Amino acid sequence: MKKLALKELSADLRELYDAALAAREHAYIPYSHFAVGAAVRCASGAVYGGCNIENASYGLCVCGERNAIFHAVGAGERELEALCVLADTEEPVSPCGACRQVMSEFKIKTIVLANLKGDCLLCTLEDLLPYGFTL
Ligand code: THU
Repeated sequence: MKKLALKELSADLRELYDAALAAREHAYIPYSHFAVGAAVRCASGAVYGGCNIENASYGLCVCGERNAIFHAVGAGERELEALCVLADTEEPVSPCGACRQVMSEFKIKTIVLANLKGDCLLCTLEDLLPYGFTL
C-alpha cells in the first residue's frame, strides 16, 4: 500500500476521485449520517459512481463501493480496472469485508482509499483481501 497525496495520483485516478466525490453527494444516510462515495473506471473508459444507501431495516443498507460496482456491472461492464472510495474520515476510509469480496469478484487491479482531505492509499486487492474466497 502506498500513501499519496491527491495531487500525486495519475490524472485518471484524480478523475476517479472527483467522480467518487460527486457520487457521495447522493448518499442516503438518515441513520448513520456517514456519507460514502465511490467510483469505478472500466476498460471501456466509462466511469460509474455509487453512494451508500441506507434502510430502516439496517441489514439492507448497501455500501458506496458495492453500489458503484453494481452500477458498472448492471450497465454491462465486465472489466473493472480501478476503484476509488472516499469518506470524511481522519485516515483514508477502509472498505468493509463484503465490499472487498465484491472487488475481488471483478478483480479490480487498482484501488484508491481516500478521505475528503485528499489523503490517499493506493492498494491492490491482495493488500485488502489476502487469501480471499474463490469458487
Ligand atoms: N459503508 C460504506 O458505504 N462502505 C464501507 O465500506 C463501510 C460502510 C456505509 C454503510 C453505512 O451506510 C455507513 O457506511 C455506516 O456503516
